[in-house]
Amino acid sequence: MWEKKPVLLLIMATGAILVGTIITMVLPFAWVNTEADRIESVTPYTALQQEGRDIYIRDGCNNCHTQTVRPLVAEVIRYGDYSKSGEFVYDRPFLWGSKRTGPDLARLGGKYPDEWHYKHMESPRAMVPKTNMPDYGWLADNQLNPQKIKRKMDVLGFPYTDDEIKALAGKNEMDAIIAYMQKLGSDIPWREAVEITIVGDLQNPFKGDAAAVSAGKLLYMENCAQCHAEDLSGDIGPELDGANYDEAELFELIYLGIPDGGMPPYSKLGAQKVWQMVNYLQEGQ
Ligand code: HEC
Ligand code: HEC
Repeated sequence: MWEKKPVLLLIMATGAILVGTIITMVLPFAWVNTEADRIESVTPYTALQQEGRDIYIRDGCNNCHTQTVRPLVAEVIRYGDYSKSGEFVYDRPFLWGSKRTGPDLARLGGKYPDEWHYKHMESPRAMVPKTNMPDYGWLADNQLNPQKIKRKMDVLGFPYTDDEIKALAGKNEMDAIIAYMQKLGSDIPWREAVEITIVGDLQNPFKGDAAAVSAGKLLYMENCAQCHAEDLSGDIGPELDGANYDEAELFELIYLGIPDGGMPPYSKLGAQKVWQMVNYLQEGQ
């Protein structure tokens, strides 16, 4: 029938394809990035952060790191609430990525103190022994060019002041990329929204168990020594003395971390391992 009438077939086929295109491509443009998707607390990048973002792209960090939390239970537990489109309105281009050799960085801001980042960028293995992330210490040797950054801010239409541009003099690429990393995810109050609850009462299951103390020591060296020093004398984080806390307090502190204090939560290790570290801190010295 129709296949013998090429012109009619062409019109029908084009129509069918157009309907599909409109439904899957054109309509979503009208549905996303509307005012309703905007998140008021999300602000544009400062000049320093924007430059850090460009360095992140130039050096291909996005080949190993994503910046989006997918709406899957396992991801939300690991990284926090899933990403919303309003979080990316100032990302040009967006850096969601698709390859996770390293962890997702969408919610990185505030997880670590600046000092941790400087050390980690200079030598990732000094902080995480088994990582395959390359060293980026050389970024600190490259000074920023304030005039060039000013031009970028103009093109993007992001606000800045002359004082901000002046303040870029003397800063290097390492300062910029770390300022950018501290901005990631920090505009939305997701940490307050996450409620990690400790199930059951806080009973130390390993009291007086010497094996737990040595297991706790190994866990401490792996997870904590980078910030509190191998001999507990303190470095990025304070000196630790388990005697200052009762065991339930210490468990809670390690399990939940100190949000915005630069002390990450260790709930991801599970309660058993956190108790082993409590035992090490209280009995192992
Ligand atoms: C070859 C892959 C690779 C590249 C390239 C890479 N990373 Fe990583 N990155 C990793 C891995 C693996 C980890 C996990 C272990 C660690 O912390 O080093 C990681 C961890 C991190 C962390 C710590 C995240 C956390 O939540 O603990 C930050 C921050 C980071 N990378 C930033 C960067 C930046 C910035 C760049 C680009 C200048 C970069 N990475 C390039 C593989 C990579
Ligand atoms: C990224 C660096 C970092 C890592 C890793 C880290 N901490 Fe901390 N920790 C800190 C900082 C910074 C503080 C101080 C936070 C504050 O008081 O606001 C702190 C505080 C603490 C405190 C309270 C100390 C006091 O006297 O106030 C304890 C206990 C503690 N950490 C234990 C641990 C344990 C155990 C681990 C490993 C499971 C660990 N930390 C891993 C940075 C870190």
